[in-house]
Amino acid sequence: MMSVETEIRFKLNGREVSLKVPVAMKTLAMLRDKLGMTGTKYACGEGECGACTVEVDGRTVNSCLMYAVDCDGRELVTIEGLRTPEGLHPVQQAFVDHGAVQCGFCMPGMIMQAKNLIENNPGLTREEAQRGLEGNLCRCTGYTKVLDAVEAVVSGKSCGSRP
Ligand code: FES
Ligand code: FES
Repeated sequence: MMSVETEIRFKLNGREVSLKVPVAMKTLAMLRDKLGMTGTKYACGEGECGACTVEVDGRTVNSCLMYAVDCDGRELVTIEGLRTPEGLHPVQQAFVDHGAVQCGFCMPGMIMQAKNLIENNPGLTREEAQRGLEGNLCRCTGYTKVLDAVEAVVSGKSCGSRP
């Protein structure tokens, strides 16, 4: 069967990207299979687990549900875009410091969601963080250490909160 492709252009982690994608391809598949950005994970594929969370124009989305063609003209940030030459992003560092990472499979999505919550909600409380992370499922941690890490970044008590 012939696959219809269309050309899209968007910004990915600060760099301009231009490529052809099948019209039925999802953003997650484009990131992983076309662009080699395998940090964003495939788990449920149905918008239920948050493993595939990325930012699109500053808002978090489940990339397994979004069509790649809808990335045209947008700005995407994935987990690969958080690290700088100076080191891990403060949220990543806090997750490490607080032992919030076990098998790690949920972590790219969890960290993207946590970062977005922290950036958009000054003074984010632990309860608000818990609600905001409800769409990100983890089979390992029980969430306590995840919330400890988020709380430490918000309160500035984590070395992960350095600028
Ligand atoms: S893989 Fe997208 S929400 Fe689970
Ligand atoms: S650390 Fe294993 S699923 Fe979250």
